[in-house]
Amino acid sequence: MELSGDPKDLVVGARELVPLADGRFVRYVNLDNAASTPPLVAVADAVSDLLPYYASVHRGAGYKSRFCTEAYEVARLRVGRFFGADPERDVVIFGRNTTDAINKLAHRLPTPVDGEPTERVVVTTLAEHHSNLLPWRARGRVVQVGLRPDGAIDLDQMKATLLRHAGRIDLVAVSGASNVTGLVPPIHELASWAHAAGAPILVDGAQLAPHRPIDVRPHDDPAHIDYLAISGHKLYAPFGTGALIGPRATFDQGAPEYQGGGTVDTVTPDGVIWAPAPDRDEAGSPNVVGAVALGVALETLAALGMDRVAAAEHRLLTAALHALRAVDGVRLLEPADPAADRVGVIPFEVLDDRGEPVDHRLVAARLAHEHGVGIRNGCFCAHPLLATLLDLPPDGIQAWSTRRSDGFRPGLLRASLGCYSDLDDIDRLAAAVAAIAKEPSPWTYQLDADGQFNPDTRPGWLPPRLRELLRH
Ligand SMILES: Cc1ncc(COP(=O)(O)O)c(C=O)c1O
Repeated sequence: MELSGDPKDLVVGARELVPLADGRFVRYVNLDNAASTPPLVAVADAVSDLLPYYASVHRGAGYKSRFCTEAYEVARLRVGRFFGADPERDVVIFGRNTTDAINKLAHRLPTPVDGEPTERVVVTTLAEHHSNLLPWRARGRVVQVGLRPDGAIDLDQMKATLLRHAGRIDLVAVSGASNVTGLVPPIHELASWAHAAGAPILVDGAQLAPHRPIDVRPHDDPAHIDYLAISGHKLYAPFGTGALIGPRATFDQGAPEYQGGGTVDTVTPDGVIWAPAPDRDEAGSPNVVGAVALGVALETLAALGMDRVAAAEHRLLTAALHALRAVDGVRLLEPADPAADRVGVIPFEVLDDRGEPVDHRLVAARLAHEHGVGIRNGCFCAHPLLATLLDLPPDGIQAWSTRRSDGFRPGLLRASLGCYSDLDDIDRLAAAVAAIAKEPSPWTYQLDADGQFNPDTRPGWLPPRLRELLRH
């Protein structure tokens, strides 16, 4: 597969038509890749190849079981290799997604004993997705490094925090790229600072891995990334698998978070000897299809070249920002430093005649129903970051939930690019946003029970096979 060809050939479904409110059909423009990506064609093909041979793994003696066991373990090798993990010292643990991976690590790190005073902390930031914040809060004391008004991590504050708590930090936990601003903090520099303060570092790679090469680097490199969490569904392998990569030594000790079949070496009437990593942390029958899909996705991305993926995305991001800046009534939330490193995630608002933001729920609905453009709106599971970006008090998002009976909360619109996005997608987005900013909708929109706007007319067409999936 080549990046130089039509990028729409890379994934399944990039040319699918969807109905609009007026009954027309248009190509669906998916600019919600920060949430989930479609499968690469190579991934879908591999899954089709695998399914006729699908069988149990690990304990099955039959041909198919042995094949699936090998395919599962090869997937593990592929994931480790893609991120530069040390095959001897590191282990790749498959789980559901990034949230699962981070919770696994939060369980595994030595926990402060309940009720005992401790000075030990986890250092994280207010820019994190809730998945890289709440597991740490649940575990013990957390220090949250503050942000600049544009949502960038305050690196001076990070440095000072690491110095202040040096020797007492269980972990530094940061996102490799923000799911709201797209900003990319200097993860290897942060790793060096963390190590100098005696702490390991976790990079939540959910948003960085699909856009940039990540190399965790050798263990003796001061800029080494100790732990990395990723999601397959954000990496063109939406089959329910993610991974946690980290030192084998961490996962070879202690009881696992989930206990049961597959996690043990031996069970006696009153005792258990746990299996070594990674089995200890992969309770129950694993998601073989998901793991194989993730392995194939990473092999395919490696063949495309992540540097080339990043360069192509940078060109497209530049074009998208240029196009959106030219639209009257659009406010882009831009980094204070125009040269700041960022992935293809574009937060914005549409403003009315008085310069007030139009309800983000309505804009997102109009983009979908009137233009066939799929983006995301809301707070993106990052309330502290949204409060900063929208200049609200720290509890500013929550305060709104009691203020408006229709469920409105402040939020943003977010368009996000994938490796198959192209200039036509950007043109469609910019034209759609321009039309929405200029003209009121010809349709009347009503809020549904989920807090989403729908127009008063819905063609509701679906191909018969999809209709079958919704029959109940
Ligand atoms: C930065 C970041 N971390 C973690 C997550 C959680 O990922 P998942 O839902 O795959 O567990 C997301 C999801 O959007 C994310 O953007």
